[in-house]
Amino acid sequence: MNKISQLISLLGGTGAVAKELKIQPSAISNWKKLNKIPSSKHKAILELGSFLNINIENFLPAKKLRDFKFKILLIISGGVASYKSLEIIRLIKKTNINLDVVMTKSAQRFITPLLVTSLTEKKCYVDLFSVEDETKMNHISLARSPDIILVAPATANIMAKLANGLADDLASTILLASFSKIILAPSMNPVMWNNLATQENYKKLKDRGIKFIEPDTGDMACGESGAGRLPEPKLIVESILSDINKDQTLASQFKNVSILITAGPTIENIDPVRFVSNRSSGKQGFEIASELTKRGGKVTLITGPVNIPFPACENIIQVNTAHEMLDSVYKQLPADILICNAAVADWKLVPKTSSNKNFDLNNKIKKTNSSLLFETIKNPDILATIAKGNLRPKIVIGFSAETNNLKKNAYSKLISKNVDLIVANNVSNNKVFGEDYNKVCLIEKNNCEEWETQSKKSVAFNLVNKINNLLNNYNQRGINAK
Ligand SMILES: Cc1cc2nc3c(=O)[nH]c(=O)nc-3n(C[C@H](O)[C@H](O)[C@H](O)COP(=O)(O)O)c2cc1C
Repeated sequence: MNKISQLISLLGGTGAVAKELKIQPSAISNWKKLNKIPSSKHKAILELGSFLNINIENFLPAKKLRDFKFKILLIISGGVASYKSLEIIRLIKKTNINLDVVMTKSAQRFITPLLVTSLTEKKCYVDLFSVEDETKMNHISLARSPDIILVAPATANIMAKLANGLADDLASTILLASFSKIILAPSMNPVMWNNLATQENYKKLKDRGIKFIEPDTGDMACGESGAGRLPEPKLIVESILSDINKDQTLASQFKNVSILITAGPTIENIDPVRFVSNRSSGKQGFEIASELTKRGGKVTLITGPVNIPFPACENIIQVNTAHEMLDSVYKQLPADILICNAAVADWKLVPKTSSNKNFDLNNKIKKTNSSLLFETIKNPDILATIAKGNLRPKIVIGFSAETNNLKKNAYSKLISKNVDLIVANNVSNNKVFGEDYNKVCLIEKNNCEEWETQSKKSVAFNLVNKINNLLNNYNQRGINAK
């Protein structure tokens, strides 16, 4: 079943989708045949996915999602600085950004939804359990449609709720249900801001990739002085506009660059029910695929069996064995960049009887056999095969999981396999595999960088910056040689 057929069946089938979109079923059959949905229908399909509470962004080309008008959702929580959000609304309204506003119950004790509505000229959302709004699964569509969710002012309370996964009102539910970029502008009494609980929540949220507009230091409304003041609305809006500009520049950094990424483990069957594999979760490779897609790259992700959601990227190919992974990589060449992040099983285990005979591998091996031996057959080294082959991409990057002599082993792989960069990590004591954090060491011929422990998302972000430099250097060498 192709990708679009899978999507249509997730959304309820050809008939149901045709009815919702008010088009002929034959049009949908055609999309399935072509494995493509016309861009004019992407928005309607996304809205239907939102309505049904199904994340379908992976099924549509990521680039197209950016073609829609920029949307910000402003969440106003309840503090003395809530009134400043009115100026934020006024300034955003001056741009061509589409703005929606949600207020917490406490925020409504400081300013009224009526005042907000009169500025936005739109409904101001306040209630999670609104019968009228929830006929369209409003909390999900409010969470999914914006490019940025700005919480200004962000109370200590809303930070704590987000850090700990609480969803007991419309604002906190939206924050948990969103894939959008989240920006918090905290504002509170300095003692509240410096409280260990708030600081731990701040760090937790930052590590998860949530952006902060840091509070100012100065005199507070409560008469105390210190860090915790909401920065001036003009500075908040300027910071967001500059972020949007930066994101849009980054969004085309890898335009027209084709990238192949392998991720996850591979598995090698022993018999129809048993296999050998390894502990790789696929998280780091998926984060890299997602970051490169965000920056406009044409990403093909070739992944072994994993239990995590797929990232949004152009093409995803699922494989099981090392041989299947190598075949898929070959089929996707030529490409500009290859990133071998998968933990490929080094050996295939062929079961043998005690008299060295093969089993019939169409059937499960019975435990009544007196003994079971294994012949080991080496699997292909995908990284070295491609890096030394005729179709070598411009940039080849390998990952190296080591339990000892990290830098030495990684350096010898760099040289012997003819790659540009090895990202090495220490996996002793079950570290790294399946975790959300990673500590990596980047090894190049004349350079070694030891990075601090950081989230896999952050490793992906910084690594993609590094890859951008490698690609620019490569292209520069090409220009100089001409
Ligand atoms: C007069 C007053 C001012 C407040 N100012 C703040 C503030 O600036 N920052 C903050 O975090 N909490 C402040 N609070 C406490 C919050 O309103 C309270 O924690 C509330 O539960 C926050 O709810 P929310 O996060 O759902 O908006 C203030 C409370 C009062 C009564």
